[in-house]
Amino acid sequence: MNGRKGIDPQTSCREDVALESLMDLDKGRMSRLVFQHPGLYERELERIFARCWLFVAHESQIPKAGDYVTTYMGQDNVIIVRQKDGGIKGFLNSCPHRGNKVCFADAGNARQFICNYHGWSFAIDGRLKGMHASEAFDSTGFDFEGHGLHPVARIDSYRGLVFATLDDRAPDLADYLGDMRYYLDAVFDMDDEGTEFVGGCVKSVIRCNWKLAAENFVGDALHAGWTHDSGARAMVGEGVDDLHKSPERSYQVNFNGHGWEFNQDIIGNCASLGDKELVKYLYAMQPRVAERLDDFRSRMIGSISSCTIFPNTSFLAGQNTFRTWHPRGPQEIELHVWTFVNKSAPPEIKERWRKGSMLTFSPSGVFEMDDGENWEYATRTNDGYVTRRQDLYIGLGRHTRVHDTSLPGNVYQGQVNEANQRAFYQRWLDLMGAAVWSDVPRRDVPTEAAV
Ligand code: FES
Ligand SMILES: [Fe+2]
Repeated sequence: MNGRKGIDPQTSCREDVALESLMDLDKGRMSRLVFQHPGLYERELERIFARCWLFVAHESQIPKAGDYVTTYMGQDNVIIVRQKDGGIKGFLNSCPHRGNKVCFADAGNARQFICNYHGWSFAIDGRLKGMHASEAFDSTGFDFEGHGLHPVARIDSYRGLVFATLDDRAPDLADYLGDMRYYLDAVFDMDDEGTEFVGGCVKSVIRCNWKLAAENFVGDALHAGWTHDSGARAMVGEGVDDLHKSPERSYQVNFNGHGWEFNQDIIGNCASLGDKELVKYLYAMQPRVAERLDDFRSRMIGSISSCTIFPNTSFLAGQNTFRTWHPRGPQEIELHVWTFVNKSAPPEIKERWRKGSMLTFSPSGVFEMDDGENWEYATRTNDGYVTRRQDLYIGLGRHTRVHDTSLPGNVYQGQVNEANQRAFYQRWLDLMGAAVWSDVPRRDVPTEAAV
């Protein structure tokens, strides 16, 4: 067991695992059990996915009353639907009669949702409106009001991104996102009109643990120069920059498990696509963003960077891919991917971004395949009976915290770092170990584990 204390080498996937034995982050160590243990996965559904604010839609997907999308919160299928008063509601996509799905489409516009099985129909606000053979129910004193679609606990949005939680005791969304809002604005508040999704949703299945994907985007700049180098050479004739060679102009920032790694070079990802028009567009935007926000954030807009909003939503600024890693058990995810653009961008710029993100980060995209293969093999090999008992290293970049900075959140020097990944797993541990929200420690101040 690599000499780590507190771990029972006989731990079986069927036995309970002591949470505190899974990680020793200030030493840069973690257990592989977090990627394969069925008991831990069940607990993730309860303490992370049934509790955190999860991304469920972009406002641009549902502009009119009755517009809806269906998606997942953990493994719970939900309908997110625009109301007549302009608000947004969310419901479990499951009929309260025998549980059948009431909406089978991914997106559309509906006046009501009707269950295929026995014909119960629901208004877009979730109320039960009627059913086939309703007179048979009348005589039983059936309570219509108590049999609507089960609503999500709360729903709210930030800069066009709609989030929902299944826990009515969760902190407000603004508090949940906290200091990350400052950085999110660099992408989602670049100008007055904000952003929109274009080109629909692309779905795929990757046989990996969801955390491998989320932690990759929260802070794994390290893999870019190695994993994606040959893909970049094949696509645009040049490899990925050695990001570790200039740590003085790059950062990792994190807040309560959310994290973003980036540099201050606004060419970055778009340049790696070789699309000069997108680079030109970003350079033209930069002074305007500097005026609207500040100079620092204006230099984040097209940098080689990646971000995860805890727990399972990620994006690449510049590459403009936005994605949610939906868990399907400990060893599989259903990946939903969209392209986001500035609403105010010219149509040809939007189209270039859509094509660029499909060429790179879609099931047929070269970089998505690079990543997916790594995550699948990591998941499969971590499952080995003896292998799963060996520790992993997650200690890169300890002692890189920047103390004298006015930037919000926990700030680290150098994007080639594992600070954000440690913070991600610290948050995971905090939530897994806390029975109620009030027991979840805040990580907006440095801790030993995050240093
Ligand atoms: S399961 Fe939906 S009406 Fe019976
Ligand atoms: Fe990658």
